[in-house]
Amino acid sequence: MKISLYYYSGAGNTKFITDKLTKQLTAKQHSVNCVRINNRSISHIDRNSDLILIGFPVYDLSAPELAQLLLKNIDSLNKPIAFFCTKAFLSVNAIYELVEISKTKGMKAVAAQDFYMPATDALALFAKKNSRTEKILKFFHSRNIDKKLARFINRIEKGAKLKTAKKWYSYLAFLIPEKTKKSFHNQYTKYIPEFYSIKDICIECMLCVKGCPRENIRFDEGIKFGLDCDMCLRCLHHCPVDSIQLGNYTKGTVRYKKVEIND
Ligand SMILES: Cc1cc2nc3c(=O)[nH]c(=O)nc-3n(C[C@H](O)[C@H](O)[C@H](O)COP(=O)(O)O)c2cc1C
Ligand code: SF4
Ligand code: SF4
Repeated sequence: MKISLYYYSGAGNTKFITDKLTKQLTAKQHSVNCVRINNRSISHIDRNSDLILIGFPVYDLSAPELAQLLLKNIDSLNKPIAFFCTKAFLSVNAIYELVEISKTKGMKAVAAQDFYMPATDALALFAKKNSRTEKILKFFHSRNIDKKLARFINRIEKGAKLKTAKKWYSYLAFLIPEKTKKSFHNQYTKYIPEFYSIKDICIECMLCVKGCPRENIRFDEGIKFGLDCDMCLRCLHHCPVDSIQLGNYTKGTVRYKKVEIND
């Protein structure tokens, strides 16, 4: 099968699963073309592949906006599609929402799989380096990832229609007051204006500028941040000299990269 795999990853958890999945698919003689989701790649889906695969981290109970836009930008495409996500705790309807968008494009969802991984937000915001909190947060992740991936690939190869439904407890959302829902939804966006880079430490390697999925970082006599941010924390976790901070929240906290993301 010719597979186009589109993945989004901040600190590297989803890239870690992407690499493992690609390895297993290739071992089974499938050809895989991996593309990182960013501002530039969301309008070019490969219409000639046999299957579309989308991998994403759960941010704020949903898929990052760019992963949603990638699907929304497709005109219509009569192809099978599969999804995987990484999450720290709760994804609620994150996969279901993407399956629903893909249906409107004429695509048939055939498989979906989630993986528990360390919380990249909590590590940066709450865990001091070498603390017990860091150890605890890093301890929680899915076991038997290879076996889970093998089952996921089997479902992809079978190609049967995936049954999805909204999580039953999401219907209880009406019990939560609107004000609380709103403040939960905005909990990360409030940090966005706080991004900055310490000029004296920055070695001007431009990794953050090149790597930001939303092209939200520029160099203008120093690193400057805009407000078009997903809070993926890629810039913060991957800066080689810990120059990037989120106000005072991330001083002395953990910088975590599961794997390097070079593209
Ligand atoms: C801004 C932000 C919001 C997050 N929201 C959630 C969430 O709602 N539910 C959850 O289970 N994990 C949440 N997480 C944790 C990530 O889903 C998890 O760490 C994921 O594996 C990160 O993958 P990445 O390194 O590929 O970006 C959040 C992380 C960030 C940075
Ligand atoms: S990644 Fe860090 S060191 Fe490199 S340019 Fe960005 S802030 Fe500076
Ligand atoms: S500014 Fe940093 S956190 Fe925001 S989208 Fe870009 S890389 Fe991610």
